[in-house]
Amino acid sequence: MKITFYGHSTLGIEIGRKHLLVDPFITGNEKASHIDISTLKADYILITHAHFDHIHDVEAIAKNTNAVIVSNWEIASHYGKKGFQYHQMNHGGSWQFDFGKVKFVNAVHSSSFPDGTYGGNPGGFVIEGEHKNIYIAGDTALTMDMKLIPMFTKLDVAILPIGNTYTMNIDEAIIASDFVDCDKILGVHYDTFGYIEINHEQAIRQFFDKGKDLMLLAIGESIEL
Ligand code: NI
Ligand code: MN
Repeated sequence: MKITFYGHSTLGIEIGRKHLLVDPFITGNEKASHIDISTLKADYILITHAHFDHIHDVEAIAKNTNAVIVSNWEIASHYGKKGFQYHQMNHGGSWQFDFGKVKFVNAVHSSSFPDGTYGGNPGGFVIEGEHKNIYIAGDTALTMDMKLIPMFTKLDVAILPIGNTYTMNIDEAIIASDFVDCDKILGVHYDTFGYIEINHEQAIRQFFDKGKDLMLLAIGESIEL
């Protein structure tokens, strides 16, 4: 499994020959201006919730790639009505795709579309593929529901928001990593806007002091699991 960070909460995930793209927000992010969305591959686009900083490039990329849009019932149906391929999920449900298994799990946040229409309830994804398991928390507060995840999946990496203001901060993300029983963390949802800027060295040190490895990738950088 290969994970590429495209800025903010946008991730490319390669599992075997399949390409997943998570929460595409690239052309709206000045910091990711060197990423050309027309070059991105996607068999599936996973969306955690309907906020603009998670769906901005969904339609452009889905048009290019004919990707299947995977999200909660409301968001998947929204794109289905527009003629895109879609797969609806909801909390607690899972589905075996051709790349692996996806479970839609709880997030504590909100999920309206940019025009104010209802985007269902926000969520996260647990993905099991190629003998590696990852948790994509989405935008969320620290929540006790995270403790359910290690009851069904032993995680290799937890992808957690750490930027504060709209989501957990670093101290809470450390507790979240305990809740999901995973010491390898990829940080997302930081630095994009003024309200979520973090001190990288300090954040990495805070995790290190608790015996945990916080990865903060450059935009375009990848890790292999
Ligand atoms: Ni959000
Ligand atoms: Mn967000």
